[in-house]
Amino acid sequence: MKKHFNVLVTRRLHNSALEELGKKCNVTLHTGKIPIPKKILMKKIREVDGLICHPYDTIDKDVIQAAENLRAISTFSVGFDHIDIDFARSRGIKTGYTPEVLTNATAELTITLILDVMRRVTEGDRLIRNKKWKQIFGAYDYTGIEISGKTIGILGMGRIGKQVSEKANGLGMKVVYHSRRPISKNLEKKLNVKYLSENKLFENSDIISLHIPYTKDTHHKINSKIFKKMKDTSFLINTSRGKIVNERHMITALKKKQIQGAGIDVYELEPIEVKSKLLKLENVVLSPHIGSSTKETRYKMSEITVKNLISGLEGKKLLYSV
Ligand code: DGY
Repeated sequence: MKKHFNVLVTRRLHNSALEELGKKCNVTLHTGKIPIPKKILMKKIREVDGLICHPYDTIDKDVIQAAENLRAISTFSVGFDHIDIDFARSRGIKTGYTPEVLTNATAELTITLILDVMRRVTEGDRLIRNKKWKQIFGAYDYTGIEISGKTIGILGMGRIGKQVSEKANGLGMKVVYHSRRPISKNLEKKLNVKYLSENKLFENSDIISLHIPYTKDTHHKINSKIFKKMKDTSFLINTSRGKIVNERHMITALKKKQIQGAGIDVYELEPIEVKSKLLKLENVVLSPHIGSSTKETRYKMSEITVKNLISGLEGKKLLYSV
């Protein structure tokens, strides 16, 4: 079969998805340093009709302008803050993404981080490995906090926020939320959640969990002013995007015990700097941006990413279009 399209893939996808892509397209798979350096990206993108990218690839104006034939972009992610969507749109380029399939995996990681930081699991693991178990032998030397009965405040009631609500309810937590537009009363009832103003959410929650996208309006939304509003016994959980939180302010709040702890999957800079002060704090659980990283989910994301791209190239409706 004649292959009509040239596509660039910036990082390996699941083999079966790559095979599918290869049936219709000439595929250039970048296998060198990742993320693909901008210079190489700009060179390789020049001739292609389609691009499959990942959240660490910055697809800005320069990159899009360099791609004279580009008709479709498909990102292997639900987030698309790494792509200049408006500019792509202005050039008639369609962009696809992968929502829904990663909702459960990300919600599960959110709950994992809550349990881990509050029951001090990873902290205890470090104690054991550092041969310090004997230091915490006393009955009250090493106590965590139970999550049952606590109030979780969800900022952003989209797909993932809703899924976290359901799981939190199942674990006996009270769920309050704030989002730009409250969900319907019916849905509130079904999910057993209560809408609060943003201030009340920060003031009343034992756990704040972030489920909003990163945009110029949400840049550093969580900063010293917010930490001052939060309970000094509360925890911050971030599985959305690192730049929503002012990391320097968060470190200060954690050190000063303005909040009690944090469970963090996403960072202002990824991979996190080896000298980051966050690495020195015991009251923090850190995971390496793995919200969607399960075998089940990554497989489905691969499939959708390829389907989105092929549909875009063939001028058809994308499965999930930004
Ligand atoms: C997403 O899909 O945006 C995730 O953050 C990537 O792992």
